[in-house]
Amino acid sequence: MAVQTLCCETSNQIDAIIERRGADPDSLIEILHAVQEEIGYLPCEVQEYVADRLGIAPGAVEGVVSFYSFFTTVPRGRHTVKVCQGTACYVRGGKRLLEAVSKHCGCGVGETSADMRFSLDVVRCVGACGLSPVMTVGDDVYERVKPTRVAEILAKYE
Ligand code: FES
Repeated sequence: MAVQTLCCETSNQIDAIIERRGADPDSLIEILHAVQEEIGYLPCEVQEYVADRLGIAPGAVEGVVSFYSFFTTVPRGRHTVKVCQGTACYVRGGKRLLEAVSKHCGCGVGETSADMRFSLDVVRCVGACGLSPVMTVGDDVYERVKPTRVAEILAKYE
């Protein structure tokens, strides 16, 4: 299979990952994780290259990438913002909070801001229902967040 659109640096990065873990099709998920961590996302040409290196059909790689929500085929922002839309958060202002974050970032759920700072997602519950509404930025958790605090919170992240 010809993989012509992959730049040399990217193919070298993938080669190094596969060399470390072995070109074993059973390690596909692990390898895709490492590749996504290194490159940031898994576009078609990267999937095809991995398939080629492991000697498996591109469709098999595509199937795995599309099945698991932690894999992404588009570039993500430097920080992932998640706004909880579980019942407790939703009834205590989660919807308005989501609107405020979306407006501030200039992107919708599942999208990334134009400056690549933030990707916006929703979650169904982060286990802090008593302190709703809740949002997270990376590993940081913000509780009882009012829409008016969104700008101040997001200003901490470059
Ligand atoms: S519903 Fe939002 S933390 Fe549980």
